[in-house]
Amino acid sequence: MRITVYLTDNRPDPWIEGLKAELPDAEIEAWQPGAPQADHAVVWAPPQQFIDEQPALRGIFNIGAGVDALLKLRIPAGTRIVRLDDAGMSVQMAEYVCHTLIRHFREFDAYEADAREGKWSYRRPKARSDFPVGIMGLGVLGERVAKAVAQFEFPVLGWSRSPKQIEGVRVFSGEAQFDEFLSSTRVLVNLLPLTEATRGILNRETLGKLRPEGYLISIARGAHLVEDDLIPLIDGGRLAGATLDVFQVEPLPAEHAFWRHPRIVVTPHGSARTLREESIAQIAGKIRAMEQGLPIAGVVDPVRGY
Ligand code: NAP
Ligand code: GLV
Repeated sequence: MRITVYLTDNRPDPWIEGLKAELPDAEIEAWQPGAPQADHAVVWAPPQQFIDEQPALRGIFNIGAGVDALLKLRIPAGTRIVRLDDAGMSVQMAEYVCHTLIRHFREFDAYEADAREGKWSYRRPKARSDFPVGIMGLGVLGERVAKAVAQFEFPVLGWSRSPKQIEGVRVFSGEAQFDEFLSSTRVLVNLLPLTEATRGILNRETLGKLRPEGYLISIARGAHLVEDDLIPLIDGGRLAGATLDVFQVEPLPAEHAFWRHPRIVVTPHGSARTLREESIAQIAGKIRAMEQGLPIAGVVDPVRGY
């Protein structure tokens, strides 16, 4: 069995070493033009040339959860595209969202500003019942985040394509229930995949439907947010602020207004990082299962787009 590795923005060597330790009988190499045909590929954002030169791939294993970059390519119908299935990401997302939510709810930014001036001042406690948290996307990451937020006794709502039942979460589904979900939400968390149906879904109209003093936590893909709509909503008093981890252009350009806005927190697309060891173990396990003809989790439906 031959495995080829193409990782934009990542050094391939530690991945190749780790995969060789898990799959000692496989030939595993970094891809280069003209490389021999492989059975499987481990990738992040490969170019079309890579796909065109490897038409015999049975599996393409993405080292991230989101496959939007891969699905832009023309990939032969018989090749299975496999996303990373948690592999240590959901706990990171839960940490990120709970931290951001509590920092906003408990006004820790204001306390920090007071502390810098040596001010001992209390703020009136807020009712968590006034802070319903709505999570868009209840997949591998969204469901874990919903359950983590529920531990802090905030009302939790979720929105997905298909109906589902999650204990402690009021679940809405489909376009028909989207408006009711938005108007019941104060803190909106986006964990949708980027597809044609979800591109630009965070915009003046949808964010304008949140409960008063809404707050946005955008952690899936930058193209979900119509960026020009955000600052007018905050400055106009419709939203209280936002924490953004993903952007239309990454790295976020130095001149972008988000960096300097007092009610926007920017983090550099790291709300859930790919953890190399966990990911290698998961991918190797799936390759072994595929080779034995066994079913595997995380196979992407290219028509659905995730
Ligand atoms: P997932 O398991 O595929 O879950 C996707 C969820 O979105 C599902 O609940 C799905 O509904 C729902 N959904 C999809 N299209 C929808 C639509 N049109 N309307 C309503 N709901 C829709 O994905 P995941 O593993 O949780 O990851 C989510 C995304 O997070 C990734 O695609 C990636 O872009 C992003 N991400 C970001 C980072 C970061 O560091 N910032 C890290 C990892 C991932 P159903 O359940 O009904 O199918
Ligand atoms: C990161 O953004 C991922 O999709 O895993």
